[in-house]
Amino acid sequence: MERQADKLLELVKDRNRESRCRVLSFVSGKGGVGKTLIATSFAYTLANTFGKKVLLLDCDIGLGNVHLLLGLDPSKNLKAVLRGSSLKEVIQNIYNFDVVLGFSGIDSLEELESYEAANLLIQIDRVLENYDYVILDNSAGISRFTVNFSRAATETYIVTNPEPTALTDAYAFIKSVYRVYGYTSFKVIVNAVSSRREGFKVFERLRLSVEKFLQFRLKLAGILPYSSRVKDALTSGMPLVHLYPSDPFSLELRRIVQLETGEVLPEEEESFIKKLIRFLKEGV
Ligand SMILES: Nc1ncnc2c1ncn2[C@@H]1O[C@H](COP(=O)(O)OP(=O)(O)OP(=O)(O)O)[C@@H](O)[C@H]1O
Ligand SMILES: [Mg+2]
Repeated sequence: MERQADKLLELVKDRNRESRCRVLSFVSGKGGVGKTLIATSFAYTLANTFGKKVLLLDCDIGLGNVHLLLGLDPSKNLKAVLRGSSLKEVIQNIYNFDVVLGFSGIDSLEELESYEAANLLIQIDRVLENYDYVILDNSAGISRFTVNFSRAATETYIVTNPEPTALTDAYAFIKSVYRVYGYTSFKVIVNAVSSRREGFKVFERLRLSVEKFLQFRLKLAGILPYSSRVKDALTSGMPLVHLYPSDPFSLELRRIVQLETGEVLPEEEESFIKKLIRFLKEGV
């Protein structure tokens, strides 16, 4: 079986060298820090604000909950792909982007047979050329798959929140991947902060540790506020960025996505009514 897997992987290596698709991998040390919320919001914003073709891939096999955030039917999922179906058959389209859901039944991708894993990678490779972005929502912690998905991705966003354990685990993740593979291309997202000041302090702690002990420079992608509306959005089965586009979380997220695309958005046109109210307030 190993040999069959190797042959399949050789096929992947020879294809798609020219694909311009950017693959963004979302990881964390500790669980529950906001990877799925952020990955889903990223996919939504890339598609709807920046007009990109996006595929969101739920790589959190076993505990994946992307379907809850998007209100999708969980029965159409990656399991069929492992049984030989093509990835295209399990793609669902919602809010102008494509989604492939994970499934429960095995604990993690680690449990896949090597030929199943290789087949999955080939299926992913086949669809890459259809997209500008593929977003990988990984499970928490360090697994062979998470690490290698990230090493192969164009960018790895490491998510932490201000909790000391989340920060320690983020550092542990960075350290292991750096020590084993020399990988340094991380961008940090500090999530669920009560103020930007808190966010900067958290990033500084992580940056200083990495600089002192690992001797490379960590980049800050952005700081996302805690939002009490996240729960409302979850209950309604719609993304926060869709329901509340002016929530501070959605606005900050848009800034991070903008940095990723490098595209400048035109200033939002002020509506007639807003202009009128502003003029009346100005008393002219
Ligand atoms: N900025 C935020 N404001 C409010 N609640 C948040 C925020 N970010 C995440 N949450 C909440 O925290 C919980 C965990 O978020 P999420 O599922 O996105 O984390 P995760 O890192 O994907 O977790 P896991 O490691 O289990 O996959 C969810 O209930 C989510 O709604
Ligand atoms: Mg998750």
